[in-house]
Amino acid sequence: MGIDSYNLERFIGDLRRIVASAADEASLLAQVAPLAQRVVAERGWLRADMYSADPALGFGTSLLHVEADQSLFVVVDSWLPGRGVPPHDHDTWAVVVGVEGCERNTFWQRLDAATRPGYAELQPIGEQCIAPGQVLAMPSGSIHSVINQTPHTSLSFHVYGRHLNHTARRQFDPERNLELPFIIDPR
Ligand SMILES: [Fe+2]
Repeated sequence: MGIDSYNLERFIGDLRRIVASAADEASLLAQVAPLAQRVVAERGWLRADMYSADPALGFGTSLLHVEADQSLFVVVDSWLPGRGVPPHDHDTWAVVVGVEGCERNTFWQRLDAATRPGYAELQPIGEQCIAPGQVLAMPSGSIHSVINQTPHTSLSFHVYGRHLNHTARRQFDPERNLELPFIIDPR
């Protein structure tokens, strides 16, 4: 390993510096996105067990880093073929980089005023397939769904501004106009 090689430890150090100094969330995302691509390209954090997924859930989540105060949550997610996650928000900023396979992201816009508990009206506003090395930066409040439409397990690298089980993030059922809490359990 050369002295200039980037790695997870340097990435976490950069994240701490950026979070402490960024003027706003847009600036933060613009700085984090290229560094996330750089650490994904380096691959030193990648382990074979990260490809395993829970057949009941359709995905697996492997924890790479979380701060003691639950900020700066870094995970690797795997999706089994044909599986995905329904529309959800994160209640924090998020940066996703593709590692293997192609994950189709659909972006959603909320149409109602979010004043009725448990009720939400959503419409799709765009799609993007995240291929290896491609980055997706999502500001707080973004709503997306993900599906792996390939015949192989997909893998992606995720950075969030907060541990997702310590946020008020929600998932949505756009066909039944439902809003539900959304909790995961990373290994
Ligand atoms: Fe997400």
